[in-house]
Amino acid sequence: MSNHKIAVIGHGNVGGTLALRWKNSGYDVVLGARDPEAPSRNECTDAGIPSTSIEQAALKADVILVAIPSHATVDLAKKLPDLTGKIMIDATNAVVKKPSPYDTGFHAFEDLTEAAVVKAFNSTGFENMRNPVYGDIHLDMFMAGDDDNAKSVIKRLATNIGFEECYDFGGSDKVVLLEKFALSWINLAIMQGHGRDIGFKVVRRG
Ligand SMILES: NC(=O)c1ccc[n+]([C@@H]2O[C@H](COP(=O)([O-])OP(=O)(O)OC[C@H]3O[C@@H](n4cnc5c(N)ncnc54)[C@H](OP(=O)(O)O)[C@@H]3O)[C@@H](O)[C@H]2O)c1
Repeated sequence: MSNHKIAVIGHGNVGGTLALRWKNSGYDVVLGARDPEAPSRNECTDAGIPSTSIEQAALKADVILVAIPSHATVDLAKKLPDLTGKIMIDATNAVVKKPSPYDTGFHAFEDLTEAAVVKAFNSTGFENMRNPVYGDIHLDMFMAGDDDNAKSVIKRLATNIGFEECYDFGGSDKVVLLEKFALSWINLAIMQGHGRDIGFKVVRRG
């Protein structure tokens, strides 16, 4: 299906789910963990996804997904090796604490690494990443960033796991808007009590 090697940094709800979905879709996936030796057995290890240090995972991959607390992205970015030529996906949202002095993880990665950074896989709950299909309807994904080649890769990563479309929100000037879009999902799902089994879909007349 693809020759992309994907490093997933942060393998909790979002990272673990996407790692599994991509592995099951034929991608070569490696987990980058703070403590790769920690004896934790989970769906990813059961699926045979290897785990290594964050630095090694980033070196091995050409696409790096980050799904850790937003405020931890600055320290992470400073620890990463040279990422020239690699694509970085920022799936984080600053729900509680911003990655000061930056507004978003995207801005930290853009400033502190050489990667082509795109924000994506942040605008819906991890349950919808596990299964984006509601009856006949496939949810949409959304992304923002300045690198068109990176965005075309991410569009395939989204549609290959069942999202119907991965809409381009625009360049880096739209990243904060995309993070607010994610906070809108959180508001509806959690604060307004609609539950996590809801998702965004663009409909079109004609
Ligand atoms: N939950 C959702 O539905 C959802 C949806 C969209 C976006 N997001 C965003 O995605 C990110 C992750 O959310 P989650 O729900 O997947 O979180 P989670 O289940 O708590 O997992 C967090 C992961 O981040 C790692 N981590 C924590 N601090 C770290 C650090 N300082 N350096 C490196 N790794 C660190 C943890 O690794 P250890 O095992 O080493 O602690 C863990 O694997 C957040 O920014 C969240 O806002 C979440």
